[in-house]
Amino acid sequence: MLTLTNVRKTFGKTVAVDGLSLSVRKGELFGLLGPNGAGKSTTVSLAVGLLAPDTGTITIERFGNPAEPAVRQQIGVAPPTIALYELLSGEENLRFFGEVYGLSGAALARRVAWCLDFVGLTDRKNDATGKYSGGMKRRLNLAAALVHDPQLLLLDEPTVGVDPQSRNKIFENIEALHAEGRTIIYTTHYMEEACGCASALPSSMPDGCWRLAR
Ligand SMILES: Nc1ncnc2c1ncn2[C@@H]1O[C@H](COP(=O)(O)OP(=O)(O)OP(=O)(O)O)[C@@H](O)[C@H]1O
Ligand SMILES: [Mg+2]
Repeated sequence: MLTLTNVRKTFGKTVAVDGLSLSVRKGELFGLLGPNGAGKSTTVSLAVGLLAPDTGTITIERFGNPAEPAVRQQIGVAPPTIALYELLSGEENLRFFGEVYGLSGAALARRVAWCLDFVGLTDRKNDATGKYSGGMKRRLNLAAALVHDPQLLLLDEPTVGVDPQSRNKIFENIEALHAEGRTIIYTTHYMEEACGCASALPSSMPDGCWRLAR
């Protein structure tokens, strides 16, 4: 579904992504593993068209160029830094992001209610997100990536700073989204997260898990 071929991206003298080629199949849950500065977030920005590569190509099969608005409609991104409006409530934040993606009326209300329920925040939907705990903000950040019901999801370290209970809730949510057939790319520093096995470290990298070295 998503193919990067020999992609290179530099910022001045810094080579952020150096000749990366990878292919993510439709319906795959794909872990992108690497230490600080390995180029994970840059790769996500390239994949969704927020950055242009210096060289190489990026294609999203059946959709086309991710820089096109109609293609972006099929993509959801949960950024590594929380991207919410702290003075707005959880529900208002999701309504805002839904409207940005062109939803309105009953369809918007249905998606917002579904997303709040999905991340377990229905009972806190009227509270300003500035008053949420860190884990609640993380969960709403994930919900904001889902409100327009995208088929391709890029989740950039969705469990950073989250307590074990909220982390498990986020893992459950991601597995449920994957079970529904969505394609998911997940960046992390942790091999056990990238490999989908919270308790045991595998001896080698399994399929669907890609390591960016530094
Ligand atoms: N906008 C930018 N301007 C200049 N340099 C940048 C920019 N974005 C990223 N870089 C550099 O590119 C390299 C890769 O950064 P990137 O954020 O992609 O890494 P990462 O793997 O996401 O790291 P982390 O695990 O810390 O989130 C780093 O050396 C970083 O300083
Ligand atoms: Mg990053």
